[in-house]
Amino acid sequence: MPGIVIIGAQWGDEGKGKIVDLLAEHADLVIRFQGGNNAGHTIVRADEKWKFHLIPSGILHPGTICAIGNGVVIDPKVLTDEIDGLRGKGIDLSGMRISANAHLIMPYHLLLDHAGEAKLGKLQIGTTRRGIGPCYADKAARLGIRVQDLLDEKILKKKIAAAMDPKRLSLRPYAKAPELDLQSMTEDYLTYGHRIEQYIADTARLTWDVLDGGGDVIFEGAQGTLLDIDHGTYPFVTSSNVVAGSACAGAGVGPKDIDEVWGVAKAYATRVGSGPFPTELDDDLGRAIREAGGEYGTTTGRARRVGWLDLVALRYAARLNTLTHLAVTKLDVLSGLGPLRVCTSYHSTNEASFDHF
Ligand code: IMP
Repeated sequence: MPGIVIIGAQWGDEGKGKIVDLLAEHADLVIRFQGGNNAGHTIVRADEKWKFHLIPSGILHPGTICAIGNGVVIDPKVLTDEIDGLRGKGIDLSGMRISANAHLIMPYHLLLDHAGEAKLGKLQIGTTRRGIGPCYADKAARLGIRVQDLLDEKILKKKIAAAMDPKRLSLRPYAKAPELDLQSMTEDYLTYGHRIEQYIADTARLTWDVLDGGGDVIFEGAQGTLLDIDHGTYPFVTSSNVVAGSACAGAGVGPKDIDEVWGVAKAYATRVGSGPFPTELDDDLGRAIREAGGEYGTTTGRARRVGWLDLVALRYAARLNTLTHLAVTKLDVLSGLGPLRVCTSYHSTNEASFDHF
């Protein structure tokens, strides 16, 4: 298994973490390529529960290098909390690497995410409010702060000031928020920098070295195809490209480095946040599946919307990502339910057509 991309084939929460965890045992490197701590997955091992938002779950396999690629947006508080948690449980972190080019979520990104959703009112996207959108917006505007900036106080302070300047108006309601003070923000982020310095690396070169040496690399995606900023149900999407093609840009490899693309899909469908969901079951059956499947967000605890498996969406995901493999999860949740249904076509924007099986 040389270069394998793992992506979500639905709206996220398909159980990608479990598949990555299984494959990671035999991999040399696992690298995340997009998203941030809007994602989350839980691994249960020896009766112990492990929750991850940023660090690939492969970290539990000694000998597997785990990298956070340049395409990821990192909240350094969340990252250092995860590092502390793993260290506290005696996990060896010597195989962890963080791209020097990854962008950082700053306190103002969190405030702007909250404010943006509040302003939209009923039309809100239902973001995880982790600052993901505003951070990617700054990246595109070339106002982002990157991991490497944490290593130089002067550069860091200058860049934070430059990034905050055009946001003065929208940040005015938070003028007195202590976390927005330039000096203390700079100091806090320098501290994060010191804490993660030993892990900062050129993760693209690292990935090339493993691939060129005949090693196995897993490119770990987050969220799901229908949440992709270009190909998903825009504007009810996340702010990054989550499709398999994004693994190349987000990790720093070429298309020829990818040998297999694994899609992960649940045997039914779920969605968190707003946006179209043609097979949604807004009834007792939907609630029963939610309870049976424990369909509550790992990151926000929000109840997930539940529906039947949507084969129209899944076919789309299979083509869009050129899937070579499909892993179907949570089949057991449907045990005892009948008749089971799958959506095979859409009649109009509001109607889906179903088959029984
Ligand atoms: P954001 O990524 O926090 O900006 O949220 C944008 C949309 O993507 C919202 O509908 C979120 O609920 C959804 N979303 C983001 N990350 C995940 C995830 O890991 N699983 C499921 N939905 C997600």
